[in-house]
Amino acid sequence: MVNIYQRTKNMELSYIRTVVEKARELEKQGRSIVHLQIGEPDFTTPEPIIEAAVEALRSGQTHYGPDEGIEELRQLVAGQIKSRKGLNFDPLENIIITAGASEAVFDAIVGLSGPGQGVIILEPAFSNYYNCCLCAGSKPLYVPLALEDKCRPDFNSLGKIVNESPDKPAFLVLNNPHNPTGALFGPGAIKQLADFALQYDLVVIADEIYENIHYGDENPLSIASVPGMEERTVLVGGFSKTYAMTGWRLGYAAAPEPLYEPIQKIHQYAVTCAATFSQLGAAGGLQKSEEDVRRMVNELDRRRRYVMDRLDQIKGMTYIRPEGAFYFFINIAASGLDCMDFSRRLLEEQGVAVIPGSTFGPSGKGFIRVSYANSLAELEKGMDRLTAFWQNLC
Ligand SMILES: Cc1ncc(COP(=O)(O)O)c(C=O)c1O
Repeated sequence: MVNIYQRTKNMELSYIRTVVEKARELEKQGRSIVHLQIGEPDFTTPEPIIEAAVEALRSGQTHYGPDEGIEELRQLVAGQIKSRKGLNFDPLENIIITAGASEAVFDAIVGLSGPGQGVIILEPAFSNYYNCCLCAGSKPLYVPLALEDKCRPDFNSLGKIVNESPDKPAFLVLNNPHNPTGALFGPGAIKQLADFALQYDLVVIADEIYENIHYGDENPLSIASVPGMEERTVLVGGFSKTYAMTGWRLGYAAAPEPLYEPIQKIHQYAVTCAATFSQLGAAGGLQKSEEDVRRMVNELDRRRRYVMDRLDQIKGMTYIRPEGAFYFFINIAASGLDCMDFSRRLLEEQGVAVIPGSTFGPSGKGFIRVSYANSLAELEKGMDRLTAFWQNLC
C-alpha cells in the first residue's frame, strides 16, 4: 500500500480529548467529576447573538454564504481591529471569517509555511500550532518560555534557534494572552519580539483569541500594531472565548496582501465558508453584547482571585500568576509525580480533571493546567479535592 500518511503519522490525537473522554467515562460510572480541564467558558452565549441566529434560521438563511464570510461580520471585525489596534484592514480584502480560530490557525500555518521552513513556537503552547506545522510539512521549532521568570520570552534561545536551525525559521507564532499559562506579554516583551521578527524577517502569526479576557486596565498590545509589523502579521481572533460561543465555530484571520490569498485558498478548499446562521448571529448580536462580555470577564476575575487565594494556601505548590485567558499553570514538581501521573491520579482518586502540562510542550513537564472557566461552586469543590490530594502526597 502506498504511504498515504506521511504528514500525520507523527501526530498524536489531542490529549485534552483523552482527558475529557476519561472524565465522561467516570461520570457514567456514577463518579462526581469536577471539570477543570475545559477551555471554554461555562456561560451561555449572550441573548442578542442567539436571537439574531434564530431569526436567521427562521428566515431561511440556511444556505452557503460567501466563502470569506458575510460582509456585515467582516466589517464588524475590521472595525474592532481598527478601534482596538489602530490598523486599517479592509473588510473585503484582508478578513476571512473561519470555522473557529482553530481553522484560522490551520489556514495560516498550512497556507503559508512549508517544507524547509521553520515555525518558531514559544512553548508551552496551544498544541494546534505544532500539529498544523506537521500538516504543512514545515518544521515546528519549540523555544521554551522562561516559566520561572514570569513566563518571559527567552531571547537567548530565540537568537540561537534563528542562527543554528537547519530549517530556516520564517515564522513566529505568538499567542497573547497565553494558553496554557494565563500569562500576558506586556508591551516591552511584544516590542522586543517585533524587533526580533523584523531583524530576522519573520512573519508572525498572532493568535489573539483571548484579547478581551485580561485583568489589568490596559488592553494587551498587539504585535501587529508595532511599527513595521502590520505587513508581516497574520492576526487570528475569534468569538469562542469572549462571547462564550465555542459551539458556534466562528473565528477569523486578518492578513495583509500577499499573506491573505494563501490563507484564503486553504479556507476555500477546507471548509468553503463558516456556518451562515452563526455568522448572522454574531453580526446581529455582537455589538449588543458588550455588557455581557464585561459581566463574564468580571466573573472570571472573581474566580481567578478565588483560585489564587486557595492555591496560596497550599504549601509547596507554585503557579504562574495569571493575567489573562482563564488558566492557571501550576508547578506540581514538589509532589514527586510527573505531570501525567499527577493528572491521572487526581482524576481517578479525587475526580478532578486537569491537563498535564507536557501536553503543551516539553517545558510544561512538571506542571498542570487548571481552567477556571467553571462555576465558583465547582471551583470550590475542585480546590478542596486538589488540596486533599496534595496533602496526601506531600
Ligand atoms: C490559544 C488558542 N487559540 C485558538 C483556540 C481555538 O478557538 P476556537 O474555538 O475559536 O477554534 C483556542 C481554544 O482553546 C486557544 O486556546
